[in-house]
Amino acid sequence: MVDSPLKNLAHAIRQHGLVRFVEHLANEYPDAHLKDLVVDYLGPNREMEVRGKRVINFGSDSFLGLDQDSRVKEAVRQGVDLWGTHNGASRAFASVRSNEDAERKLAKWLGTEETLIYPSVSLANMGALPGLVGRKDLLVLDEHAHNSMQEGAKIAQANGTRVETFSHSDPADLERIFKETGPYRVAVVAIDGVYSMSGKLPPLKEINRVCKRNNAVLYVDDAHGTGVLGKKGRGTVLDALGSYDNCLVVGSLSKAFSAFGGFVACPRDFKMLLKVRSNTFIFGGPVPPPYLDAICTVCDILMSHEYEEIQGRLKANLTRLTEGATDLGLTVLGGETPIVSILVGDEEDTLEAGHFLFQQGYYVQSVTFPAVPYHGGVLRIQVNANHTLDAVDGLVGALGKLQKKVELPRPEALAHAA
Ligand SMILES: Cc1ncc(COP(=O)(O)O)c(C=O)c1O
Repeated sequence: MVDSPLKNLAHAIRQHGLVRFVEHLANEYPDAHLKDLVVDYLGPNREMEVRGKRVINFGSDSFLGLDQDSRVKEAVRQGVDLWGTHNGASRAFASVRSNEDAERKLAKWLGTEETLIYPSVSLANMGALPGLVGRKDLLVLDEHAHNSMQEGAKIAQANGTRVETFSHSDPADLERIFKETGPYRVAVVAIDGVYSMSGKLPPLKEINRVCKRNNAVLYVDDAHGTGVLGKKGRGTVLDALGSYDNCLVVGSLSKAFSAFGGFVACPRDFKMLLKVRSNTFIFGGPVPPPYLDAICTVCDILMSHEYEEIQGRLKANLTRLTEGATDLGLTVLGGETPIVSILVGDEEDTLEAGHFLFQQGYYVQSVTFPAVPYHGGVLRIQVNANHTLDAVDGLVGALGKLQKKVELPRPEALAHAA
């Protein structure tokens, strides 16, 4: 019997290894599979209700807790009064004044000449990155660069750009690529500012040195550094390199900013070049205006003295968690950023561990292959400034109980295996 084209299509998609793997996990472990959740209620201090259960949410990238800040909420409300919910036009035709204001404020906060806002970091990467390079050019990516840069690189490749990949955070391998590649007109090297699955930072100085030696621009997607790392939360690049003179930096407005969108920070003349060369900018809609007003409000907070107080709370929570988990003898990855991963290993164990913590009243993300290497499953804990210390202590207590249920690798075991 011939099925309908839609059924055939679904069948064909199911042949994909990743789809089979995800369906397998969802079918085998329906209770432990805490993905695709629906949240029914959000309360103070990261309380949330899921499947009729109140838990503390340790899975939010809204690191500074500004999504619940009354001034940020009010900015959105006033923005709706002023602009309506959406202006409904590509910025290639018109931008609302708040867009210009937000880009100027972002530039002032960052210490760059200009910024250009996109509706998301993914759309920035998939628009700006292929827009920067063309035939005769070279684009080199860290093998672990965020998926959206990999997708942007595919577009660049389809347009005739030579695309290469270097070993994760390895400046020597990057140098090798340049040595082995023939002449190019211009080169761009794309990396993450923070690798969000491990919480690790790349060796920015060394990578930038290789870039400069080889006449290449460094493109850093600092989505997870924006608002939380560096002075005033300006991210990883300025503090590590002292200037932006060889860099284009991408930041997120949807994580620590608790607003919406992404931006590219750039020299003045690049703003126009990026507008003209980014297809996602030209052929898509903008960030809704009320959120641009929220971005302006968040910039004011980041530039004020209050930022240190918010950071202080975030750091106190982060230290309490990493120290607590380390004292339990767990293998703690990251910790330089508010993303802390606890190594579990086996995929099934990782799902079970997340489920156990959920039952104890704490939601953390169970991250398995392919987001991390096979058998490298982790519990990914996102610490926020508006978690209470009691909640962090409670989570550490629950991790202690988890150790009695699921065998969690100790750091020594990992060192032996290495
Ligand atoms: C490095 C990096 N880039 C891009 C993104 C996606 O950002 P957005 O949701 O704004 O598309 C993420 C999301 O976690 C990320 O970690």
